[in-house]
Formats: sequence, C-alpha cells, structure tokens
Amino acid sequence: MKQHIEETLELLSKRGIKKPKIGLILGSGLGVLADEIQHSIKVPYQDIPHFPISTVAGHAGQLVFGELEGQSVIAMSGRFHYYEGYSLEAVTYPVRVFKALGVEQLIVTNAAGGVNTDFNAGDLMIISDHINNMYQNPLMGANDPELGERFPDMSSAYSEKLRSLAKNEAAKLQLNVQEGVYVANTGPCYETPAEVRMIRTIGGDAVGMSTVPEVIVARHSNMEVLGISCISNMAAGILPQPLTHSEVIETTEAVKADFMELVKSIIREMI
Ligand code: HPA
Repeated sequence: MKQHIEETLELLSKRGIKKPKIGLILGSGLGVLADEIQHSIKVPYQDIPHFPISTVAGHAGQLVFGELEGQSVIAMSGRFHYYEGYSLEAVTYPVRVFKALGVEQLIVTNAAGGVNTDFNAGDLMIISDHINNMYQNPLMGANDPELGERFPDMSSAYSEKLRSLAKNEAAKLQLNVQEGVYVANTGPCYETPAEVRMIRTIGGDAVGMSTVPEVIVARHSNMEVLGISCISNMAAGILPQPLTHSEVIETTEAVKADFMELVKSIIREMI
C-alpha cells in the first residue's frame, strides 16, 4: 500500500497539488461544491495511479484541489461505492491518499434515506454516529502500524467540535438541521420496509450506501471527521410510493444551495 500511495502522490505533486488541510468527499448530486473551489487543479481519477474508476452515472470522478473560503482543500467529486464491486480497501484508498497529502480534517457527505419519521426529504442531517451494517470492514487484513492502530477507537468517530461548529453555522444561516445516526448498507437495492423498521429499531436515523468505510479509515488515520447527510427521500415503506434514484437526485438538486452555504461557512470557521 505504501508504495502505491507514494506513486499516487508523485503524480498529484507533478500536477501541482500541495498540502491540503481539509478533505471533502462529495456525495451524489453534491459534487457542485467542487465548482466553488478557487485556483483549482483538477485531476480525473483515471489519470491517478492506483485509483479505482467510478462507474455510476451522476458521479463525476475527479480530485479538485484549491482554495475554498480561504482554506486549502481537496475534494473528491464522486466517490467509489462498495456496491460497484470494489473492495473496501479500494473504496477507501483516496482517504489514505488524503492523509498522506497532509489532510487533517475530513468532511464526508452523502445522500441518504430518512428513517426517523420526524425527518423530511430535503433535510440536512449532521451525522452524530454510525452503524456499519455492511458486514465488511476496510481495516480487515494485515495492519500497517505506520498508517494506524490495529484496534482503533470509534467512540467519537464524528468530532464533537466539528459537529457543534456545524450546528452553530447552520443556526447563523437559519437552516434547520437534524442530527442523527447514519446506517450504511451495501446497496445497491434500496431497503425493504422491514429492513427500514429494523434500522429504526437498532437506532438508525438515516440509511445510505457509503460514508462508513471512508470514516473508519479516516479515524484509523487519526483525521477529524464531520459527516453531513442530505435526506434525499424518506426510506422505503414510510411514504406510499416507491423509491427512485431520480427522486434522490432531484431532492439533492433542490437543497444543494443550502448544503453548499452550510459547508462553506463551516470551512470558513474551521481551525
Ligand atoms: N436508502 C439507501 N441509500 C440511499 C437512500 C435510501 O433510501 N436514499 C439515498 N441513498
């Protein structure tokens, strides 16, 4: 892995990518935030040695480095999903690269189904904690102690400090944000109504198909993490209608202005 990371860094440094402080992983429909990055250097995933290639329509697939709200950032516009057939090691490889570049704080975003019936499609949710329901873990296999501990602590995976910053900024913008537990399933099918009831029973407020692997690796790498879900739909069985990917995209389209304002104001205040 270290050899691979070095080769990846070599290409990124050749393209002019320096030392970003904040990493961003932009979920379905939320990649537009990358367009706000100033003095940007864009590197398509297919140019990057050892990066997997994204296959899902609607996921752009490039790294964008530059300045956002006065901070040095690097964004993944489009992420890799387990359901696409990649190993979790491949899914989380970019997080390893972020760490090696010098990223200290990671903001992870996604579109998710609302499981908590107090939520509405279009809400933003600050992730307070997660449940890994993928029955797979990106840290399985030999552990390289230079990358992190064998048994990393997950008791405060989502930084208390960044969560309260996020809530403060939301209040300043008069955005009503939710807070809750994100449950990651493998996908790619959406849940059954019975699975959604199970997720609610085990303590989930939102459900999606990403984020948890990246957060596990970010914590293994000792990065500070903030997670934000866009509740793009109510999960299966809550409303009398089937779920569609186009609904997910439409809702994220409708809230992306709020989402971008929120993330930008959080970044402005991050220290
Ligand atoms: N379930 C799982 N993943 C999702 C959903 C959902 O309802 N909406 C967006 N991503």
